[in-house]
Amino acid sequence: MSRARIEELLASTIGLDPGSIGTQAIDLAVRARMRTRRISDLVAYCDLVEGDVDERKELLEGIVVSETWFFRDPQAFRFVVDHVASRLRSGTSLVRILSLPCATGEEPYSVVIALLEAGVLPEQVEVRGIDLSPRAVELARAGAFGANSFRGEDLSFRERWFSTAGSNWRIDPRVQACVSFEVANALGPTLDIGAGTCDVILCRNLLIYLNLESRRKLLGRIERALGESGVLIAGHSEDIAALAPRFRRSGNLAAFAYRRSEPPSAEPPAVASPPCESLTPRRRPSRARARARRAGSAGEASVTQKNAGAMLPPAPSADSYCLLGVTLRCTGKLAEAAACFERALYLDRDHYDSLVHFALLCEHRGEREAAGRLRRRAARVSRGGIRP
Ligand SMILES: C[S@@+](CC[C@H](N)C(=O)[O-])C[C@H]1O[C@@H](n2cnc3c(N)ncnc32)[C@H](O)[C@@H]1O
Repeated sequence: MSRARIEELLASTIGLDPGSIGTQAIDLAVRARMRTRRISDLVAYCDLVEGDVDERKELLEGIVVSETWFFRDPQAFRFVVDHVASRLRSGTSLVRILSLPCATGEEPYSVVIALLEAGVLPEQVEVRGIDLSPRAVELARAGAFGANSFRGEDLSFRERWFSTAGSNWRIDPRVQACVSFEVANALGPTLDIGAGTCDVILCRNLLIYLNLESRRKLLGRIERALGESGVLIAGHSEDIAALAPRFRRSGNLAAFAYRRSEPPSAEPPAVASPPCESLTPRRRPSRARARARRAGSAGEASVTQKNAGAMLPPAPSADSYCLLGVTLRCTGKLAEAAACFERALYLDRDHYDSLVHFALLCEHRGEREAAGRLRRRAARVSRGGIRP
């Protein structure tokens, strides 16, 4: 009952799908706050957190996952450089880029580094980073980064744009000067990102944590904030086209870039939230899947694989085959991954996650027709699951 109150609070404030991080992670964060506030009764803590904005912020700090690093998914940054170059060539004098969420700043700073290295002038770009977490934004503004922020194979950019500061690296002030940071809730009533103002919006690794209603709401906001030729860059496991059919894939598939295919519709007036729906409407992700999904989002394929191996239930299920498929895809074993998704769909032909991941895999292999079929099936399932 009390856990339901906490989950309801998280859903109504930040749109969290509890299954995406696992109830254990939520329990841990709640227990840590109860210890800090010296409260032993969960009901008393629920009363406090529901009525106290500052306590709510503290709890959210313990819930959100601010995992990020420089040039995470490098293809995305190559795509942004090409897009910005084409906007500047077509006569735009100032290109506006939004990183939402920006976490501790590695993403917006990577964009600036990539652009400056491509010859774009600082006065030609304006990069804005927004995140819910005041602590993350404070670190982003400070501009000093530890080893965990540098994970790619090619770290040569660090020599060019950072100076050492003890065990940290401090970002070049010229890069810092191109980015402004704000604390804001992407789903809150006061978020102001301006209609039609953005040339690029990076919204990566947030949608995976949201319930379906909040994903759609955020995508609606992004759609309205994008200029006519603006692009949305999503995370690699975030299937935008299945969620918001008005977005279509653009450019290199590995960049996960999307454009609007129609003018945006107006934001619906705020109404009382209907019950939160999960992306996988018929089943809640198990803790094992949630853990593996988080590890995957953190780019830790080996951890994901270990989790998958350790957590497969004794009886094969669509969930377990899907999880194994995702793991194999992360490690580049595409044929084996495809076999797992096929197996999952054999066991449950409406297994939404398998349909989406298999579609992404087919797209990656250039099998557009198969990908289209899978996407249509996934869309049908998410609308109510009518079997053809
Ligand atoms: C995994 S990080 C993603 C950072 C970066 N985009 C990337 O892909 O590396 C997720 C971030 O989302 C932020 N976040 C979660 N809910 C949010 C919300 N409702 N509004 C704004 N930011 C949010 C968290 O604070 C966290 O820093």
